[in-house]
Amino acid sequence: METVKVGLGARSYDVLIGNGLLDRAAAHLARLARDRRLLVVSDQTVWRLLGRRLQAALGHVEAVPILVRPGEESKSWAGLQFVAEQLLGHGVERSDHIVAFGGGVVGDLAGFAAAIVNRGCGFVQVPTTLLAQVDSSVGGKTAINVAAGKNLVGAFHQPSLVLIDPALLDSLDARQVRAGYAEIVKYALIEDPSLFDWLERDRDAVLSGDGEARLRAIAAAVAGKARIVEEDERETSGRRALLNLGHTFGHALEAETGYSDSLLHGEAVALGCVLAFGFSAQRGLCPVEESDRVRRHLAAAGLPTTLASVGLGGGGEKLAAHMQRDKKREGGRTTFILARGIGRAVVDKEVDIADVVTFLDHAD
Ligand SMILES: NC(=O)c1ccc[n+]([C@@H]2O[C@H](COP(=O)([O-])OP(=O)(O)OC[C@H]3O[C@@H](n4cnc5c(N)ncnc54)[C@H](O)[C@@H]3O)[C@@H](O)[C@H]2O)c1
Ligand SMILES: [Zn+2]
Repeated sequence: METVKVGLGARSYDVLIGNGLLDRAAAHLARLARDRRLLVVSDQTVWRLLGRRLQAALGHVEAVPILVRPGEESKSWAGLQFVAEQLLGHGVERSDHIVAFGGGVVGDLAGFAAAIVNRGCGFVQVPTTLLAQVDSSVGGKTAINVAAGKNLVGAFHQPSLVLIDPALLDSLDARQVRAGYAEIVKYALIEDPSLFDWLERDRDAVLSGDGEARLRAIAAAVAGKARIVEEDERETSGRRALLNLGHTFGHALEAETGYSDSLLHGEAVALGCVLAFGFSAQRGLCPVEESDRVRRHLAAAGLPTTLASVGLGGGGEKLAAHMQRDKKREGGRTTFILARGIGRAVVDKEVDIADVVTFLDHAD
């Protein structure tokens, strides 16, 4: 088992990563139960597939499920109201720890509910998608989607423990695994070139579910995120903004495709990373060979790497319009995460949006 510590003073916590960890959940969760009960927020699919295993592991502690429909639509005012009312209906107290058991949707929703119910109670993340295991379960960002956009209402609320069992990914479909893989590559591209070298060699082992390879990749990604979050928990110094590599472009792609299943978040991030590196290379910031290497790697992983492949060739103006509505804007300018090379991401607040439009219009 690997342990990654997230050091945030009084809000510090451990991320435990181990194959088969869910089956040992009682060892970590039983002490957080009250009256031999744990309130578990999950989605119907995850609960159907894995609920019995969680309950079996907990033994004499009863898991009380609060279930939402699977999918992004549950991360809404209505979903939040439902979860909050259910938690209160079950008598949740401030000192309680609720369990978020599912993908990023469940983690963000349950985390936000935990942030506001009783003005804040504790919560534990047990992520069940690769994306949630390498990204959303760590770092304390919680949110719902509202009419004005995705993740625009939320709170910073750190979990008190994260339990990651890569074996839970066995039931996840291959496309969701690839989407999560894009976020692992993102960490490598931000500041871990040796992770990128290793992924170039062992990509197929990680994607196909080799236990050791998956554990190593997840632990490296979580350690990368923990380092950055420790230095800039609330994204004030700008360091945490590095985690948005590929996301300024990616969010625009998702918005343009209507946040639909036609382009998953991780797929948008993959193409977004390719675009961020391509743009950096065009500006002379990053060697062209490095940007080509990024594209080759993600393409070989079965992720989209061209605008044409997602039906958005020549769509510079439309994509830029979405970027100008990005919540990461400051003083009317969109912040871009660019790169000097693999593992050398930088924050750039001075990018002229017209240059981005020209670049996108000519990108393939
Ligand atoms: N808070 C953050 O820092 C952060 C970071 C990245 C993404 N996010 C958020 O995460 C969300 C996306 O998360 P996601 O990609 O995990 O999507 P998701 O939670 O919708 O899960 C994807 C699908 O997989 C199913 N599923 C989950 N675990 C499974 C398993 N083990 N076996 C089979 N099926 C399973 C779910 O039921 C769902 O249908 C977005 O809302 C995004 O905004 C948050
Ligand atoms: Zn992401």
